[in-house]
Amino acid sequence: MVLRSVCLPHSCPTRINVRRCTGFSRGPLHKTTAIYPGSFDPPTNGHLDLIERGSKIFDELIVAILRNPDKDPLFNVSERVAMLEALTSQYGNVRVDTFDGLTVDYADRVGASSVLRGIRALSDYEYELQMALMNRKLRPELETVFMMPAEKYSYLSSRLVREVAKLGGSVKGLVPELVEQNLRGKLDPAFKFGEFRAAQETRSESRKSRARKKA
Ligand code: PNS
Repeated sequence: MVLRSVCLPHSCPTRINVRRCTGFSRGPLHKTTAIYPGSFDPPTNGHLDLIERGSKIFDELIVAILRNPDKDPLFNVSERVAMLEALTSQYGNVRVDTFDGLTVDYADRVGASSVLRGIRALSDYEYELQMALMNRKLRPELETVFMMPAEKYSYLSSRLVREVAKLGGSVKGLVPELVEQNLRGKLDPAFKFGEFRAAQETRSESRKSRARKKA
């Protein structure tokens, strides 16, 4: 059988025999969809690094934000969706969604065959392994794929970014500029990054001056 040589967009119909423009036959084409579930509160450069890597190996990557009523997030779900949509708009095969309930059920609903998760250091491994094996128990056909972000992000987490930003430290280079701006807007103006110490000093001065007036 002679196969036509064609370049396929990501939205190509599945399960057709084609010879892709790379010149080799891939046989029956399956569109591989992966979900990248997480809290993303806020999205960091480590998350974006992983999204870029994932977008290269999956036909479709869904960044899936967990709607977790038990957590009191810094950014609400709509804010996180808006940030991630803006930050991933350059990838034609990446979209952002939200879910609640089990990750495996969500994966089933969107037809995903893989779950993408990042492993930064050995310390992540135990938790990630537990989660991957539980997900496998719940839905054996769903594969967890671990990828490593760039080494420069190996210590980076949303929790640390929130903590550093709340305490007035700089998160430059750790989160995209958009997230940095939104962190600034979100936090008490007195605790804004560079202004933190100045604000502290001003507060301490006015406390002293009030105390002097009372005395
Ligand atoms: O970014 P996070 O907080 O590390 O992401 C954790 C997440 C959302 C992937 C995990 O908590 C999850 O999958 N929650 C959905 C509920 C679920 O499926 N629990 C069983 C997992 S073994």
